[in-house]
Amino acid sequence: MERVISGIRPTGNLHLGNYFGAVKNFVRMQDEYDCMFFIADWHSLTTHPTPENIRQSARTILAEYLACGIDPEKAPIYIQSDVKEVLELYLYLNMNAYLGELERVTSFKEKVRQQPDNVNAGLLTYPTLMAADILMHKADKVPVGKDQEQNMEMARLFARRFNRIYNIEYFKEPQNFYYTKQAVKIPGLDGSGKMGKSNGNCIYLFEDDQTITKKVMRAVTDAGPQAMNSEKPEVIQNLFTLMEAVSTPDTVAYFNDKWNTCEIRYGDMKKQLAADICATVAPIREKIEMYKNDDALLQRIANQGAERARERAAQTIKEVREIIGFRAN
Ligand code: TYM
Repeated sequence: MERVISGIRPTGNLHLGNYFGAVKNFVRMQDEYDCMFFIADWHSLTTHPTPENIRQSARTILAEYLACGIDPEKAPIYIQSDVKEVLELYLYLNMNAYLGELERVTSFKEKVRQQPDNVNAGLLTYPTLMAADILMHKADKVPVGKDQEQNMEMARLFARRFNRIYNIEYFKEPQNFYYTKQAVKIPGLDGSGKMGKSNGNCIYLFEDDQTITKKVMRAVTDAGPQAMNSEKPEVIQNLFTLMEAVSTPDTVAYFNDKWNTCEIRYGDMKKQLAADICATVAPIREKIEMYKNDDALLQRIANQGAERARERAAQTIKEVREIIGFRAN
């Protein structure tokens, strides 16, 4: 059976971008594939969270994963820092990763702009840690949103390079996975590109109807279409993209027609969009409430997940050590 791995940085709560870009696909994949999901808490260290933050946010994301429908019996969930083998692979991959190529990664360049006082080596080698997460499991498929495409290319590059250096077909090249034709990019409501935790433009899965509706009604729009069948400016396209994720095709077609005939009323569209987002989020929110207070359950799931992940990781490290020329155990 093909193997699937994916992860999320626990630097806040899950938002609609995480859900439609990745988690919803995880959930659909767990019946068909050999899946494991993890919480990338080492990756979150690049922004220097406090120990309390770390403890709290891993638990929160675990509860949210479960609320979205990941079934740990089918798809173990583990916390990255519980599987120390990943660090060893990270080290080996770093030895074959070059400064120039790491510096050219778009998300690294973005972080340099966003946090000029904290350009740490962890940020630079973020793609090698992510590659270690994936290659450790010899994953075939990785469900991710559009923003992770470059990191995925790097993972394939590191896999190929390792194989070439040691002259062995060892690592598979992991493929990005989406059920849709293209990678999903859920926009923010502020007209500024993608929905993202650090952009402060998210709708979170734990939020109540009132909060969500308020956020949607405040979404940036424009003066309206100036001609029939005109192209949509980005801020308007963003509303449609969100609608495509949460509403029925009929609803999207209805507002598209209204746009094309210059009859669109953004207020009506936003009301519909808010209602459809609330309908998506409400059942998940209820389950988050249920899981987040069950510490014993969360602990048990994390322990079981770590055990399964460690078994696989130990096997990979044993083989990699042999290939490189180290004692295997
Ligand atoms: P992270 O935590 O930023 O996001 C988690 C997942 O959510 C997707 N996503 C989006 N998809 C569509 N539209 C959006 N606006 C949006 N925002 C977030 C991301 O594409 C991602 O799939 N580097 C990863 C975490 C990671 C990982 C891995 C993922 C570490 N190791 C190994 C897969 C495999 C990250 O920062 O995702």
